Amino acid sequence: MPKKTGRNGSAAKTALAQSKIIRDEDERVFRERLARYYDELRWLYMELYDNNDMFAELCSQMKVYYNQRNRKLKALDQKREISGKWYRKRDMTGMMMYIDNFAGNIKGVQEKLPYLEQCHVNYIHLMPFLDSPKGRSDGGYAVADFRKVKPELGTMDDLAELAEKCHEKGISVCMDFVMNHTSEDHEWAVKAREGDGEYMSRYFFYSDPSIPQEYEKTVPQVFPTTAPGNFTYLPKQGHYVMTTFYPYQWDLNYRNPRVFNEMMYNFLYLANQGMDIIRIDAVPYIWKELGTDCRNLPKVHTIVRMMRMIGEIVCPGIVLLGEVVMEPEKVAPYFGTVEKPECHMLYNVTTMATTWNTVATRDIRLLRKQMDIVCSLPKEYTFLNYLRCHDDIGWGIDYAELKRWEMEEVPHKKYLNDYFQGKTEGSVSRGELYNEDPITGDARFCATTASMCGIESAGFEQDDVKMSRAITKDIMLHAYMFTQSGIPMLYSGDEIGQINDYTYRDNSEKALDSRYIHRGKFCWELAGRIREKGSVQNRIFSALFKLEAIRKEEPVFDADAEVYTKDYSDLSILWIVRKAGPEELHAVFNFSDECKTIWMPETTEYADLLTGEKRMLEKVNLPSWDFLWMKKEIRI
Ligand code: GLC
Repeated sequence: MPKKTGRNGSAAKTALAQSKIIRDEDERVFRERLARYYDELRWLYMELYDNNDMFAELCSQMKVYYNQRNRKLKALDQKREISGKWYRKRDMTGMMMYIDNFAGNIKGVQEKLPYLEQCHVNYIHLMPFLDSPKGRSDGGYAVADFRKVKPELGTMDDLAELAEKCHEKGISVCMDFVMNHTSEDHEWAVKAREGDGEYMSRYFFYSDPSIPQEYEKTVPQVFPTTAPGNFTYLPKQGHYVMTTFYPYQWDLNYRNPRVFNEMMYNFLYLANQGMDIIRIDAVPYIWKELGTDCRNLPKVHTIVRMMRMIGEIVCPGIVLLGEVVMEPEKVAPYFGTVEKPECHMLYNVTTMATTWNTVATRDIRLLRKQMDIVCSLPKEYTFLNYLRCHDDIGWGIDYAELKRWEMEEVPHKKYLNDYFQGKTEGSVSRGELYNEDPITGDARFCATTASMCGIESAGFEQDDVKMSRAITKDIMLHAYMFTQSGIPMLYSGDEIGQINDYTYRDNSEKALDSRYIHRGKFCWELAGRIREKGSVQNRIFSALFKLEAIRKEEPVFDADAEVYTKDYSDLSILWIVRKAGPEELHAVFNFSDECKTIWMPETTEYADLLTGEKRMLEKVNLPSWDFLWMKKEIRI
């Protein structure tokens, strides 16, 4: 081969030298990050697995995934490392959606990005899209292959391309990482079913019913009606396999280091497709111990902490969002400590359930107490706030407090369920029960925000007055969500007031799971009416648009603002104060059917953030189910 000479030769040399500089810099960055976490990671790994070889493999695989991470993502990692808590900015607005319902497939979502921008959304949660068997998928939460997209939705390349396009528009992408279980069709499960001991040890297999029976004594049921029990008998194999959720979702055994390592490789692989936020599905369940309830065990925290460190080493730009649908004292520990953080972000689940409790009871006391608990937590804790998501509402509220007011759990839950089904006099809500337990009488609830606020019933009755009231309530609840610190997360369809979809009942694969009532197709025809003045869609969409714009604009919404609730003489009035710098926001919400007179704390000038008007105020009339965002300058 002739030697390269002249200008071309030296250009090639420069390019070579440059790529060596980049490689050296890459090496340095990785070594530095690994060194930062090595001791703690090794300590925790050894404590759990006591296996040097598997730990060495984990470290070398982290390097492999780091090397595979593309330049753009590495640059984003560095940018985010420097800027710190990028996901805590007050301009964040999220939206969660099913790819097929929203836009058919991944390419369709890419085409719809302008609509999402119109919604001010800069964080999208794409509901489970990995390969999952039809009819046995639990809405995609039974993953058959962690490296393959459902063919009808597209390919991994489509996903990476969508993530890249989103990044160009400043939109972050979230996906689920279902780590508690795999589908029974996953390669490991198939091999385990064939009797391969290596693969059986990745799940919980028992030939004898005695251990499953022991577990059943202490482990509660997630789906008591649709999937009773925590084990499934496999008649051909003569074995029981642990299935906390549906029988086709086999629980992974994290006592086996091979399971941990391989799942971490899957996590890194997915992060490398450009995911910004990884939602760790059903995380409290990932460690099992006989004689316990198999929820929130200390080793769960060891695993999440290790996952956080692995992320910090390979892809520090990503955020871990923990799905911990538990009472507040169980949720907060998933943030870890300041020195040893676990999840970056958690769902504000009790606040969500308590908000709906307040809608039904028109009594803000419990919500105020819940807000006070959240406000007393360190400001670094970031919550994801929401009104509705793809799951049912489990009525996980503070029953001990309710008992003090002589309200008992079972009748109160019944009251809530009756109210939201529209069975109570005066209730405008519509929806269905979920997993009604015939033994305990317990039941959860499913419906969309709009249907719970009365938009469905008002539309059905063609009653304009009721419709206006329902829209006001819907907007007020969103304003309440936007008032909280953390990231507001809309559920696709809520921005246009989409109501329940009852067609799931005609689909044999969905009919038994009433959560599909709020997992309907996004109605583009209705979305087409967002510019039509006075339409339901226009009223809701433009109001949310405005709230998001104000939130983005006003420093009182900063994550670090001081937030507290104010004592007010009326039990239907929730009053939240946010203070940042010289400004103070008074956010007042009327959870009642009557118009109320609100007496301001002092007669002074307030700026109404919704109208932009500045007024001297002593008192103000607040219509039923409406709210105020009044800002006051603190004069020093
Ligand atoms: C999570 C999901 C839920 C699913 C369960 C089992 O709780 O949100 O939809 O059924 O995990 O994977």
